[in-house]
Amino acid sequence: MKIAVFASGRGSNLQAIIDASARGDIPTKIDLVISDNRDARALKRADKARVDNIFVNPEAFSSNGKYEEKLIEILKEYEIDLIALAGYMRILSSSFIKEYRNQIINIHPSLLPAFKGLNAQKRALEYGVKYSGCTVHFVNKGVDAGPIIEQAVVRVNDNDSVEDLSQRILKEEHRIYPEVIKGLVGGKYIIRDRKVIRN
Ligand code: GRF
Repeated sequence: MKIAVFASGRGSNLQAIIDASARGDIPTKIDLVISDNRDARALKRADKARVDNIFVNPEAFSSNGKYEEKLIEILKEYEIDLIALAGYMRILSSSFIKEYRNQIINIHPSLLPAFKGLNAQKRALEYGVKYSGCTVHFVNKGVDAGPIIEQAVVRVNDNDSVEDLSQRILKEEHRIYPEVIKGLVGGKYIIRDRKVIRN
């Protein structure tokens, strides 16, 4: 299975996947990293790990459709089978998602369906939940709404800052994202309606 990671920023999840693959925990490597941000630390991490990486500038295209056509062209060239979004800050169009149906996954820093969208950790804290966590899910056309593959739960402490909670959640993200990719490579999951079932 050929894997691409899409990342816009820090790239710590990308790093966790690269490290898991280097340790042999995932029986395959990352073939490609794509970013929409020239300065993304994720690109530097990919460089360091000798993973092909490409900055595709959305501003260089006349429309989002044309930008995504370029992404698809690159993905086809690399014969990518699985796209893992890891802090990718753009919403993929439904035609892109159709092209890679059930082949795109995302990690989100909350226990979905709670706190979809941006600043999930801050909103969880403000809401006063006692537990939060992270979710890996297939991407469908709703934002953070696709079938859930795996989740991890994190306790929210009374005195947590957004940073404290985010860090605690991130630790779990780095654990479950590579695990899910391992499972997908091994054909461990099947999608039945909204449910993802372990094979
Ligand atoms: C993570 O919190 C992830 O859940 C969210 O964006 C953040 C990306 O962090 N989708 P990083 O770039 O992987 O460090």
